[in-house]
Amino acid sequence: MTARTPAHTTIGILGAGRVGTAVARQALAAGYPVLLSASGPAEDIQLIVDVVAPGARAVTAEEAAASADLVVAAIPLHKFRTLPREALAGKIVIDAMNHWGPVDGPLTEYDEDPRSTSEIVQEFLDRSRLVKTLNHIGYHELEEDGRPAGSPARRALAHASDNAEASERVAEFLDALGYDPVSAGPLRAGQAFAPGTPIFAGSFTAPELASALEDARVATEVATEVAALPTAGDTTADRSYTLTA
Ligand SMILES: NC(=O)c1ccc[n+]([C@@H]2O[C@H](COP(=O)([O-])OP(=O)(O)OC[C@H]3O[C@@H](n4cnc5c(N)ncnc54)[C@H](OP(=O)(O)O)[C@@H]3O)[C@@H](O)[C@H]2O)c1
Repeated sequence: MTARTPAHTTIGILGAGRVGTAVARQALAAGYPVLLSASGPAEDIQLIVDVVAPGARAVTAEEAAASADLVVAAIPLHKFRTLPREALAGKIVIDAMNHWGPVDGPLTEYDEDPRSTSEIVQEFLDRSRLVKTLNHIGYHELEEDGRPAGSPARRALAHASDNAEASERVAEFLDALGYDPVSAGPLRAGQAFAPGTPIFAGSFTAPELASALEDARVATEVATEVAALPTAGDTTADRSYTLTA
């Protein structure tokens, strides 16, 4: 069995933009081999990789996905259906993507869907194990805020997944990048740290983040219960009683 040290865990990054290159540098600094890709041939990003993430290997998205132990998806959300779905089968995939209006524009598909964007991406990557994280830290902060484990007031990052093993592997990765990992629970809980939420806008230690996630969970529960209450003039409940009595 291969040891689970950074040196034995290849990180494949899909997206060689702001987030992808920042994650690449931070992962390289932590000792991980890194494969970096954009949407085209490896040669197209060779120079960028050499300059901004020296030590990473420029590859195609298919190769980054197929050869990695852990994959980071850092592309604009509206392009998620261009992710190499087949090559990602069986892989743990970090979803760092946000619905970001200025880049993605209005995405009616997501706005009208009660699910989190990660649940929608998970449906597309149906043979991968998705973990939502790295989406609520600015690309420029990723290297600035990282601290060794045990540092006072170390910044925490939330992660959400429907798969326990994937959560554990990604928590190890976040720790190696310099952050305290805090589980938010299942993938749908990723809504608690999506754009527009207090968690997305802030910076938290692990106890603060755990408390903010709990507040978000309770608020969602209350909202769900309120939405289920019959509204004035709604006779559904009475009808149901009549039918089953
Ligand atoms: N900016 C932030 O601080 C921040 C923080 C957290 C999360 N995010 C989220 O992270 C994602 C990336 O943001 P960004 O600011 O890094 O974007 P960006 O700078 O525009 O970079 C996007 C990258 O994705 C690549 N790409 C597009 N389709 C691809 C595919 N199918 N396979 C591989 N690479 C592909 C692009 O390559 P080509 O040029 O070849 O198309 C480009 O290198 C977004 O969803 C964003 O919402 C951003």
